[in-house]
Amino acid sequence: MHIRVLGAAAGGGLPQWNANGPYNERARDGDRTCPAQTQSSIAVSADGEQWVLFNASPDIRQQLNQTPALWPQAGQRRHTPIRAVILTNADVDHIAGLLTLRERQGYSLYGSSRVLDVLAGNSVFNVLNPDFVARRPTTLNVPFEPVDEAGKGIGLLVRLFPVPGKVALFLEDESSENFGTTEGDTVGVEIMDPATNKTAYYIPGCAAMPPELADRLNGARLVMFDGTLFSDDEMVKGKESPKTGARMGHMSISGPDGTMAAFELIDVQRKVLIHINNTNPVLAHDSDERAIVERAGWEVAFDGMEIAL
Ligand code: MLT
Ligand code: MN
Repeated sequence: MHIRVLGAAAGGGLPQWNANGPYNERARDGDRTCPAQTQSSIAVSADGEQWVLFNASPDIRQQLNQTPALWPQAGQRRHTPIRAVILTNADVDHIAGLLTLRERQGYSLYGSSRVLDVLAGNSVFNVLNPDFVARRPTTLNVPFEPVDEAGKGIGLLVRLFPVPGKVALFLEDESSENFGTTEGDTVGVEIMDPATNKTAYYIPGCAAMPPELADRLNGARLVMFDGTLFSDDEMVKGKESPKTGARMGHMSISGPDGTMAAFELIDVQRKVLIHINNTNPVLAHDSDERAIVERAGWEVAFDGMEIAL
């Protein structure tokens, strides 16, 4: 299985258009020890030829242009190696790129019915002509083989499973204690290569680590996990936002209820932080926090990171 990180950052990217603060400034200055990162997406392929995108970020045009494996094949006027797109939630950083993937191109679009309902309720997504883009709602917890628009399998098995999270920011119901969040609003994905029996997990948003999720991940070869914030209150302290990580539906890396602590009890061969906010010190290669996560056995994803499994 080939995995390529198209965008390692959370919504906003690094640098974010309206943000200063140390990591944004360093990225804008071209500091190679704090390089720019685009927004949240990975591409996965069993054979290196047919690819599935997990999430479609607002930066998708730049991401595709930087990734020759995802260019149209020479000799064909219209073509893409992208056979399917699978969504983990309906946040802007995961769906806005769909608007770029139009132009009468066939592929399959998968998500929970909650997430596909969000697209159905926003008529701008009607630019994805149903004659070409097949929307295929998935049943949670049931593995399926993603297919291209013609229904031909592409050699991977995928399972979407619910994880603690939050409904998309633009759909929050302030009158409800959980903002109107329902199962299926945020999912993790298990990606299996039946030819090699190898499995990867991609969970770019996760609000907590319940025992059933820890059990599921125990023994995994690779987990790519929500690395949005290092400290729950880092955006509050930096006066960037009144919101904590918990309020945004993200576990933070540090702290007693944080990701590092949770994974101390889970046996995972390779752990990669992904969906990293522009306030998170792990983005800087020379930060103390980067050294702390690396000592705890974590890698920090970056644009262009390739993992062969
Ligand atoms: C998140 O991951 O919390 C969202 O992407 C926030 C947003 O939509 O800006
Ligand atoms: Mn996000």
